[in-house]
Amino acid sequence: MLELKSLNYQPATAEKAVLVDINLKARRGFPIVIAGASGSGKTSLLEIISGLANLQKGKVFWKEKLLSQRERRWLCGMVFQFPERHFLGLTVGQELRLGHRRISTELQQKVLTKVGLAELDLRQSPEQLSGGQQRRLALAVQLLRKPEVLLLDEPTAGLDWSVRGEILDLLKGLAKDRLLIVVTHEPEFFRELSTQVYHLFQGRLLEKSKFVGANQTK
Ligand SMILES: Nc1ncnc2c1ncn2[C@@H]1O[C@H](COP(=O)(O)OP(=O)(O)OP(=O)(O)O)[C@@H](O)[C@H]1O
Ligand SMILES: [Mg+2]
Repeated sequence: MLELKSLNYQPATAEKAVLVDINLKARRGFPIVIAGASGSGKTSLLEIISGLANLQKGKVFWKEKLLSQRERRWLCGMVFQFPERHFLGLTVGQELRLGHRRISTELQQKVLTKVGLAELDLRQSPEQLSGGQQRRLALAVQLLRKPEVLLLDEPTAGLDWSVRGEILDLLKGLAKDRLLIVVTHEPEFFRELSTQVYHLFQGRLLEKSKFVGANQTK
């Protein structure tokens, strides 16, 4: 279980706190969706959990062990809001191998199959891929690290409807084997993924609403 206790975060350049007294418990198999308007602190929260940013106050535990910022980096895989902006490799193959020089072809193929890119030509550049393929590639890059916690920042932002549905199905599959946290400004889209929906409002994790089954909400 991942546990956040009294997290507070105020970047040096921010006038006021970006995250205030955040408490959350998350377990594998029970994906969490965190909704919030633009500027509510969604990306900041994922940056803290994943150790990309450090907090001023509060603690992050994994299996009841207190984690340092560095340990959080190992634990978590973060898929950015627009991951395609962060591609560094000249080819898809290079992108997959960045940071994993000794990765086996079997593992690479297994992960590509998992994200639905088994047939991809690894010699093309990531820019040549469609928006949905680019998101899948970004997910594959993180899955290769075998993170126990997968954090997704607006995984469907900027994608068209059919592709968003595909990504949602992919996430439903991934959620079975690892802890998943999705932040989004459109929680209703992720209804099928999770019954655990939290709301961030001006840096506070305010309320938790449990969606009843989709067919009961009408
Ligand atoms: N390093 C920083 N320095 C100053 N202010 C920051 C920093 N990081 C975040 N903030 C501020 O914190 C608030 C929350 O930002 P954050 O990016 O986490 O919001 P968000 O919910 O992800 O928004 P969006 O939906 O637009 O992506 C914003 O007001 C932002 O300006
Ligand atoms: Mg954001």
